[in-house]
Amino acid sequence: MINGGRRLVGAVDISGAKNAALAIIPATVLAEGKCRIENIPDIRDVRLMMDIIRHLGASVKQVNRNTYEIDTTYIASETVPDAMARKMRASYYFIGALLGRAGKAEVAMPGGCNFGVRPIDQHIKGFEALGARVRTENAVIKATTRELLGGAVYFDLVSVGATINVMLAAVKAKGLTIIENAAKEPHIVDLANFLNLMGADVRGAGTDVIKIRGVDSMHGCDYSIIPDQIEAGTYMVAAAATGGDVLIRNVIPKHLDSISAKLVESGVQIEEFDDSVRVTANGRLLKCNIKTMPHPGFPTDMQPQFAAMLSIAEGTSIISEGIWDNRFRYVEQLLRMGASIQVEGKAAIIEGVPQLKGAPVRADDLRAGAAMVIAGLVASGTTTIEDIHLIERGYENILGKLTALGADISRIQDDDDTPARVIPMVSSL
Ligand code: UD1
Repeated sequence: MINGGRRLVGAVDISGAKNAALAIIPATVLAEGKCRIENIPDIRDVRLMMDIIRHLGASVKQVNRNTYEIDTTYIASETVPDAMARKMRASYYFIGALLGRAGKAEVAMPGGCNFGVRPIDQHIKGFEALGARVRTENAVIKATTRELLGGAVYFDLVSVGATINVMLAAVKAKGLTIIENAAKEPHIVDLANFLNLMGADVRGAGTDVIKIRGVDSMHGCDYSIIPDQIEAGTYMVAAAATGGDVLIRNVIPKHLDSISAKLVESGVQIEEFDDSVRVTANGRLLKCNIKTMPHPGFPTDMQPQFAAMLSIAEGTSIISEGIWDNRFRYVEQLLRMGASIQVEGKAAIIEGVPQLKGAPVRADDLRAGAAMVIAGLVASGTTTIEDIHLIERGYENILGKLTALGADISRIQDDDDTPARVIPMVSSL
């Protein structure tokens, strides 16, 4: 429940990147040893990942809130059970990682946010190029190989997931793998750095050609995950939308360039420091047009939050979705709050209104949920958001962080639909 209308003021520390952590945790399977990983975000998806890796036989020790030691010396299974795989998109990274480790993987078709059809043909094409045999039986993906051999992989489109999955499979394949038309997101680079510390030979991550020379064995290492670009962007937009003044700490400002550029276009001031950015907004925001694209383009995972902000900006903004077929379902919720938005195919036309009004809404998915939080923060009156477990998949301690910035936000019902009760604000949420 959010009582809106308060400016966000103060400083917020950004957690480690969800999408990097969700690739790096499965990657530990490739080592036979202990990895100590810091800056892992304390979010639901990470806990699910840890459950999977424990199930496979790894020993997992949580050293503190954001640091884990994962020992993969003994891996006893190559199967990720249905119930675990379906809860999360990134469970499919165990296909690449287990193929690399054991030459065999069985993982149920993954779940995740519903943005329309989410095919995995490019992942499969990549595994096959390395000599694996992949088939799908009863919605379970089964991949096997006697020996992975380096090969040439040309992706038909830029896919973060396929790039990561093929990198995981290729690091221990015999010979050279060349991935062309690779994704360039910061977490691809983070994964490559992690793999190289474990003894792999990965070059070119962050460009569209990645070259991987297979190695025979890999070992444990100590690593710290990069800050979450999307969590940072979400707080930047929340600060801007509420006319606030917030220092966003523990970020890599370069990763925020496309987000900062659009905020500046909307009349927001951004000051960059070494590892923080300050976001200040005064007066009414201005319209801007956005098209989502693979990195370094504007991230699709930031468009719902911008839509919430642009709902109250002056003028008409157009958001074009360039990655997913169906990523405007949340618009219906913003309409309930008085926004004026028309969706035409893969574009949303947003006519700024002076004010949103609090209403009961739901989180359709993770980032749609973040957009509802931003809308609730700027709206007059009270907004209640249902299905907040989807938000908690990807935002560490969002209630605590927003409360510290002056928001009036509280959890009024447990995730498992137990009867409503007010749970006091605690940092362990
Ligand atoms: C990842 C992110 C997600 C983000 C997305 C785009 C994780 C866990 N999730 O998702 O938050 O929204 O990147 O930045 O990191 N495609 C195919 N065939 C494939 C694979 C993808 O056609 O085999 C298409 C998809 O349908 C989509 C586009 O490629 O249209 C991009 O998908 P992809 O980059 O793979 O997204 P994910 O890795 O699933």
